[in-house]
Amino acid sequence: MSPRTVSSTISTSLATKSPADLDVDTLVLASVPDGEAARLADGHDLPNKVVKALNAALAAVNATGKPASQVALPAPSGVKARRVVVTGLGDTPVAEGGDVLRRAAGVATRGATGSVAVAIPHADVAGLAAVVEGALMGAYAYPGIRGAKATDGSTGDRKNKRSSETPAGSTKVTSLSVVTSTGKSAAVAVRRAEVLADAVSWARDLVNTPPNRLTPQAFVEAVQEQVKAAGVKIAVTVLDENELREQGFGGITGVGQGSANPPRIVRLSWTPKSSSAAPVAFVGKGITFDSGGLNIKPGSSMATMKSDMAGAAAVAAATIAAAVLDVRVPVTTYLGLAENMPGGNAQRPGDVVTMRDGTTVEILDTDAEGRMVLGDCLCLASQEGAERIVDVATLTGACVVALGTRVTGVMGNDEAFTQEVLGAAQTAGEQMWPLPLPEDLRASLDSPFADLAHKGDRWGGALTAGLFLERFAATPGDRTPITWAHLDIAGPSYNEGAPWGHVPKGGTGAAVPTLLTLLENHAH
Ligand code: BES
Ligand code: MN
Ligand code: ZN
Repeated sequence: MSPRTVSSTISTSLATKSPADLDVDTLVLASVPDGEAARLADGHDLPNKVVKALNAALAAVNATGKPASQVALPAPSGVKARRVVVTGLGDTPVAEGGDVLRRAAGVATRGATGSVAVAIPHADVAGLAAVVEGALMGAYAYPGIRGAKATDGSTGDRKNKRSSETPAGSTKVTSLSVVTSTGKSAAVAVRRAEVLADAVSWARDLVNTPPNRLTPQAFVEAVQEQVKAAGVKIAVTVLDENELREQGFGGITGVGQGSANPPRIVRLSWTPKSSSAAPVAFVGKGITFDSGGLNIKPGSSMATMKSDMAGAAAVAAATIAAAVLDVRVPVTTYLGLAENMPGGNAQRPGDVVTMRDGTTVEILDTDAEGRMVLGDCLCLASQEGAERIVDVATLTGACVVALGTRVTGVMGNDEAFTQEVLGAAQTAGEQMWPLPLPEDLRASLDSPFADLAHKGDRWGGALTAGLFLERFAATPGDRTPITWAHLDIAGPSYNEGAPWGHVPKGGTGAAVPTLLTLLENHAH
């Protein structure tokens, strides 16, 4: 895992001249449906003759102008670029289409190489930001572990592994020029989009990194390196397996004890120079591999379980991005890092473990490990005075059944705060939907052997998992609830299918845009 920074990826600039005059490998323009066919969208600053030639070419290749469609054309005379890619916007008016613009830009840069200029018409700075985000996120490519020098990265070979790592930034787009006429505030918007895209890329890299390489300790080191590379004042502290055991973190200790790669809790603290905003705490599920433990998963379900640390990746990435952008909100972020394996010392169904706050939990299914790790982190956040907590986790298959693979489930104990999260998601262009925490399901977490059973009813698994977590977002002692929201990203965090819009195959960086937006909204 090499760090990702703005300068190490794609150099981005603004262009104000006509797209026809840009000397680039690929020029990206936009089309809209026109009856059965397509035409260039309004708002392109192109000579009439060029517009005519391109419209004729669009007709010749049966372009539709629909969202997610794109066609590549040879550049007509009068256009300096070598190649033109026309991406479809559909019928959404440009002024309302942040999500459409983000996706259309992503579709266009996905396969692009070399220098790219994006001239997709947009109505305002928010539209410009969506175009830049989409273009940068669409251009993402995971380098992979390749070549003679690559080693297997097993624990005995750590030194070697680090020196042979393939550098990040393997994207084939080398420079991005964005055509806009939005004026003065454009530079600020572009800078923010770059920082966000870097954060998303880094979260994707972490998720894509094979689980033999991204152990809990390797995750810790990746975070330390990224904080250093970003040059931000974030304090990083680590609890190792001995400290976790001695300090009563029975949840994460139990999950990690079946693995040769011991667990960690990482704390990242961002303290802005001046801030009047209430502090926010983030908690991320960081299971570097979820085999299920003794309740082992069938092979087909286990195949993508390197992605079970996507919540931790998202909260870490968003925290670093907030610091880079100097967002004036104090943030404390807790990463619960463990590997869930069925080794000889693995925890058993029937075990009773004691969580950080003293709650005892009867283990029923070792595959419900995420809530144990998160529970301990929520206790720690609560104990350290958190006033608003957001946890992010690939928590339940049930959430994917309920909402599909592209929608995050949002639960919480404070309606206003849940709405804030949902509002941030909408602004950021991520699909999130509220799920309830029904009182009647609480009884299904009763255990005859401990304070709490660790799974509930077979039905509504996302909700009982949420109810389990809710208990730990409370002040120790009097158990007053602390404002808390829970994001189940089991579906959106990993794309097993084909790339779509600005979203690649594999790790997606889900929740990073929403978390950053939430912090920014808080700073106001
Ligand atoms: N990491 C999984 C949830 C998951 C499933 C994430 C699919 C991404 C895609 C989690 O640890 C898990 O195994 N959950 C169980 C809970 C059950 C045992 C109560 C599940 O969803 O089946
Ligand atoms: Mn599991
Ligand atoms: Zn899991």
